[in-house]
Amino acid sequence: MQILVTGGAGYIGSHTCIQLLNSGYEAIIVDNFSNSKPEALKRVEQITGEKLKFYKTDILDQEALIKVFEENKIEAVIHFAGLKAVGESVTLPLKYYQNNIAGTLVLLEVMEAFEVDKLVFSSSATVYGEQQCVPLNEALRVQATNPYGRTKLMIEQILQDVYQSNNNWSIALLRYFNPIGAHESGLIGEDPSGIPNNLVPYITQVAVGKLSKLNVFGNDYPTYDGTGIRDYIHVMDLADGHLKALEKVLSTRGAEAYNLGTGRGFSVLEMVQAFEAEIGKRIPFEVKARRPGDIAVSYADPSKAEIELNWRAERGLAEMCRDSWNWQKHNPKGYKKITENQVTS
Ligand code: NAD
Ligand code: UD1
Repeated sequence: MQILVTGGAGYIGSHTCIQLLNSGYEAIIVDNFSNSKPEALKRVEQITGEKLKFYKTDILDQEALIKVFEENKIEAVIHFAGLKAVGESVTLPLKYYQNNIAGTLVLLEVMEAFEVDKLVFSSSATVYGEQQCVPLNEALRVQATNPYGRTKLMIEQILQDVYQSNNNWSIALLRYFNPIGAHESGLIGEDPSGIPNNLVPYITQVAVGKLSKLNVFGNDYPTYDGTGIRDYIHVMDLADGHLKALEKVLSTRGAEAYNLGTGRGFSVLEMVQAFEAEIGKRIPFEVKARRPGDIAVSYADPSKAEIELNWRAERGLAEMCRDSWNWQKHNPKGYKKITENQVTS
């Protein structure tokens, strides 16, 4: 069965492609490589021993997208393509609304034209904004505090409207918590451009010597050690969640949101300690002011996904740290430098 994967060369998309291929699906990738490299797809093929069909195409290019649908018999779409840097979205909001929202509208129009009405969408825990209590469940009122978050919120609403207008649609809105880790081979992983915004790639780049020390954004939050608490989830568990969501949309109708998280939070200092234990060396850090827009605590109530998708995160923090580090140490320059000894030690 052919599944269109938009943004399939990216961090989460490439890991999901592995699980799609391993499960017997045919993955058709559309990516403009604005935040990824073709090398990621070559490595997916290397890991799985399967061929991927890919198009270097922008989802905003309706004609090109129509061609993809004409040339293939697509049964469902997993839609990862989008821009995701919160800070950049504040300075360049139109770029984010254009790419994420207009891009999704073009995709939906083409899907409708080809009567493809099954969709798994990459939403984010960012749609919860700041809430009074944790864990966060799907029934909470959603809100967003920056343009990136608003694109996710708006797309969720657009997809609900699409379903309301035509109940044949089947849509899963996957609200990811904090994806980290990498495929166990160390061949693919997260490859942020420039200085990482997110905690884990920052820690591993300090460990590998690319950055001198970690800045801990605030130690005066109302948490047990004063630092922010997040629900880190292994990217391969997230990939498995997409397979379960795909099975769900292929077999039912509706538009439902699901948290993909572990249900357990770790503080910044606990993450530093976990990586120190894995890597066997100190991660130097300095406490700095809070990062504007950050919240104190975020972790999922993952029970809806467990009940309705039959999915649960299986991999623990030690495995997440091991696989993040395995990827980073074998690929200190990400996908840029290709050497012969990149396989697991
Ligand atoms: P990523 O940047 O690694 O992957 C996104 C991919 O989409 C990239 O390969 C990029 O080149 C492609 N892309 C972007 N705009 C495109 C366009 N107009 N046409 C074609 N391709 C385009 O990001 P990721 O971490 O893999 O995230 C995937 C999705 O999950 C995104 O929508 C993101 O917002 C969402 N998400 C990510 C996280 C996270 O922490 N990584 C958390 C929550 C939600
Ligand atoms: C980020 C995104 C959010 C996205 C989420 C999921 C931002 C502002 N928000 O949030 O939209 O949905 O990822 O992947 O980018 N920290 C440090 N030092 C650093 C980096 C982070 O102390 O150099 C702290 C943060 O203050 C936070 C924790 O580490 O407490 C995690 O940060 P990060 O990895 O950026 O994730 P989120 O803040 O959850």
